[in-house]
Amino acid sequence: MSRFYVTTPIYYVNDEPHIGHAYTTILADVVARFHRALGDETYFLTGTDEHGQKVQQAAEKRGVTPQQHVDEYVVRFQEKWDALNIKYDQFIRTTDDKHKAVVSYLLQQLWDKGLIYKDSYEGWYSVAEERFLTDKEYEEGEWRDVKRLSESNYWFKMSAYQEDLINYIHDNPEFIQPDFRKNEVLGFLRQELGDLCISRPKARLNWGIELPFDDEYVTYVWFDALTNYISAIGYPTEEATFQKWWPVDFHLIGKDILTTHAVYWPTMLMAAGLPLPKTIFAHGWWLMGDAKMSKSLGNVVRPLDLANKYGVDALRYFLMREMTPGQDASFTIEGFISRYNSDLANDLGNMVNRITKLLGRHFDLVLPDPGETMPEDSDLVQHVSGLTEKVRSELAQMKVNYAITHVFDVLREINRYLEEMAPWKLIKTDRDRAGAVLYNAAEALRLSAVHLYPVMPEKIAQLLVVMGTSAQARLNEVGWFEWGHLKPGTKLGKTDGLFPRIEVQEALEEKAEKLDLKDEISFDDFMKMDIRVGKIIKAEKHPNADKLLKLQVDLGTEQRQVIAGIAEHYSPDDLVGKFISIIANLKPATIRGELSQGMILAADDGKTVSPLIPLKKVDPGSKVR
Ligand code: MSP
Repeated sequence: MSRFYVTTPIYYVNDEPHIGHAYTTILADVVARFHRALGDETYFLTGTDEHGQKVQQAAEKRGVTPQQHVDEYVVRFQEKWDALNIKYDQFIRTTDDKHKAVVSYLLQQLWDKGLIYKDSYEGWYSVAEERFLTDKEYEEGEWRDVKRLSESNYWFKMSAYQEDLINYIHDNPEFIQPDFRKNEVLGFLRQELGDLCISRPKARLNWGIELPFDDEYVTYVWFDALTNYISAIGYPTEEATFQKWWPVDFHLIGKDILTTHAVYWPTMLMAAGLPLPKTIFAHGWWLMGDAKMSKSLGNVVRPLDLANKYGVDALRYFLMREMTPGQDASFTIEGFISRYNSDLANDLGNMVNRITKLLGRHFDLVLPDPGETMPEDSDLVQHVSGLTEKVRSELAQMKVNYAITHVFDVLREINRYLEEMAPWKLIKTDRDRAGAVLYNAAEALRLSAVHLYPVMPEKIAQLLVVMGTSAQARLNEVGWFEWGHLKPGTKLGKTDGLFPRIEVQEALEEKAEKLDLKDEISFDDFMKMDIRVGKIIKAEKHPNADKLLKLQVDLGTEQRQVIAGIAEHYSPDDLVGKFISIIANLKPATIRGELSQGMILAADDGKTVSPLIPLKKVDPGSKVR
């Protein structure tokens, strides 16, 4: 028996749980369930990241304390995970006293070792990202809310570990997975690694963990958040527990938080004298069509919407089957339905029906005796018996989709076996042998289903009951994963609609009816926006970005420069002289190094982008209400 420790990122408590969060958490749940089923001692950690500026601001806005705010909001994650049937061993919150004490301890350790120092720094600071940008990032990125800031802060000597980290990555090929992500990190480490600013002055942010050696400062959210992976398992006080679980087998993360996990975190651990994680596994993004799914795009798919309608397991199955770990995957309702119908309703559902129908017709649903395994059976038996090893080795690389494919290969094998043996004919000449064939098919189906249990715990438990065995009671029993577990003489149950087909037309019509609106706002909220008609007097390409145009807009009494992302749809000449509408009181932003004082309003149907123009001629600067 071995032990297995898996983590998800801890999610920003302010966010509404969406399919991106759900994916990682279900993935962790699936591998944790598989290891538990194999009898491994397993620990699955998830939780929420609850400090930082955004939380502080959101609480202020709602007129509550940050603690009240996070206490209310954390429930949204906990409820979603319950609803999605996620069985974690611990839900850690960075506001837990125990966690805070560990962060403080770690900071003090590094301070005592001389690995943290104080220094002042001036640079571009992104309020939205809560961090300083490098000059290169500032020039090349699109940033709102950036300001020049100079301040004294505490720095962790991350640069001291650059060589050690590079060597470690080379010596431990499993450390960062998939391989191309490893190369990405090595690429990043080819540049000189700077030190890491790990403090924020309280004057700017006080919702955080205070530095133990300077009460004017709190620690940087990432230093706080990453520490959760060890504070949760008893570091440093519960020595035995900590030794048992650390180093972690898998940190599951999304590709966007690779640097924090594969550079900041390992160097923090090196500084603390702790072993590094066995594997940091970065998965890709779920895209809507081809757009990145995020709140700002307003296309957040709420996992529970689909789970409520088609069942939690259907959603879990789709997410696990559809994404090739490491790559991005596209989420469409059409893809969801076709996957469900072909795999679950057809391949799996039909197989259950077929076998139980034959057993019902010829054996009154009582499992016949398998007798001796004949040479014609051995292919099937071998195929099924090898499944656990195949699934185990795919999951050791987080390839859940391939693991699932192996199970469906076996289902096809069962089909082939039934066609070849034709028990419906055999029954007339050799009843015992026909019974043995049906036993073999049923047992092969049971054993295949067992491997899908971690992905679809509810449905497979129902299926196993139909097959005359049960999931829960036998999870850790020897034999669950072995051929011959079904007992002859057992009466099977009825299988009504385990996976009813989804009618595509109906589902798509419903989708068409639903406008995916943002949260309701008040009239006062609306009146905060100052929308004006402007006349474009000059248009040119943005010097640093192909998709952007730089426009000079006449607003009557003043002229504005506005950057607009419409260069793929309009050339500068199309626009000069045109009247358009802009949000005129939007906070100015520097977009790829150019100032933008407002934003153009445009309709977007996914195919084209069309600026909103006034129907009759009005003066530039006219209000839009
Ligand atoms: N709080 C930090 C993590 C700290 S871990 C010590 C954080 N939180 S988050 O809530 O913004 O996001 C967490 C995870 O969700 C990331 O792994 C991110 O990749 C993932 N996803 C967010 N949107 C996603 C998709 N559309 N698709 C897949 N995963 C995505 O970052």
